[in-house]
Amino acid sequence: MKILERLNPHVAKVNPYQPGRPIEEVARELGLDPGTIIKLASNESALGVSPKAQAALVAAVPQMHLYPDAGAFELRHKLAKKQGVKPEELIFGAGSNEILVFLAQALLRPGTSVVASAYAFVIYKILATMQGAEFIEVPAKGLAHDLDAMAAAIRPDTAVVFLCNPNNPTGTLLERAAVDRFMEKVPEDCLVVFDEAYAEICLGDMPDSFRFVRQGRACLVLRTFSKAYGLAGLRVGWGYGPAALIQALEKPRQPFNVTLAAQIAATAALDDDDFLVRSRANYREARDILEAGFTELGLPFERSYANFMLFKAGDAAKVNDGLLREGVIVRPVAPYRLPEWLRVSFGTPAECRRFVAALKKVLGR
Ligand SMILES: Cc1ncc(COP(=O)(O)O)c(C=O)c1O
Repeated sequence: MKILERLNPHVAKVNPYQPGRPIEEVARELGLDPGTIIKLASNESALGVSPKAQAALVAAVPQMHLYPDAGAFELRHKLAKKQGVKPEELIFGAGSNEILVFLAQALLRPGTSVVASAYAFVIYKILATMQGAEFIEVPAKGLAHDLDAMAAAIRPDTAVVFLCNPNNPTGTLLERAAVDRFMEKVPEDCLVVFDEAYAEICLGDMPDSFRFVRQGRACLVLRTFSKAYGLAGLRVGWGYGPAALIQALEKPRQPFNVTLAAQIAATAALDDDDFLVRSRANYREARDILEAGFTELGLPFERSYANFMLFKAGDAAKVNDGLLREGVIVRPVAPYRLPEWLRVSFGTPAECRRFVAALKKVLGR
């Protein structure tokens, strides 16, 4: 098509993100009953939606003819109070993913570069490519970020460095001492993004990234209601950073990016600490079941501190196909250049046991 000659050459280079496959799609393709399929492919909440968010959402239906508050006043003030931060240090997005887009639009262009680890969340590379920035991928230490190497990779033109913690898709967690050492080496004109989508359900000790913002560092912490609170379908996430940086990131934000339903549900979810406690307990049990299953099957796996884990399946495409036929959707990680591995999200204990049984069958054990 003639119009495509005008396509932005940076956009033309983008390899689109491959999401986890929806249950209905797999059911249609394989002739399965959707009710029998389990999806362990997108690190969604195993316990469903936060009950407090769900109740608020249902009650809010009659207000849906109204536009949302463009400044998310209630959510902003409640979250600021809960986190002990100032309202003007927060930004909200349609998922934390949208805030990643804002920061790419605000800071990245040809002549700038981005530093991230190999096997880190693939969206970083997509955004850098889209903006015409150079993507510097730093080899990992095993499957984990090598922070010393990442600090050494920062160049004068590096505008953003991404620390994904715990990292998706590897589940690895950064240690506080390593983060401290890293932060000492980052120049002040380079933004450090702590992408902490799994922080509230983390199964280890999260290093405190907020203190760098309090110190006035060029630093942005990203969180989401998608995972811990089970609001992935509503799309709402937030960022915490110095007020001046937040003001700059607000420029590309469109006024009604976070829906009224999402704002109401997220505001209510903030009261649901009990849901977080139950979720973490569930994920601990899920991890035990999966680790025991992989050990029994002799499959290498990476210890995870989030609600998903990588295991080495060998011919991962074939194993993935077999699992789909058993009604279990997991996530191939070939786009991360891990062609022998698969990522499985932590479901309920019953779902994890079903996954292990299906895996045994697929592997002929
Ligand atoms: C590390 C990481 N960051 C950000 C996101 C984006 O999440 P959302 O846009 O749902 O907040 C995800 C989602 O999988 C993720 O794994």
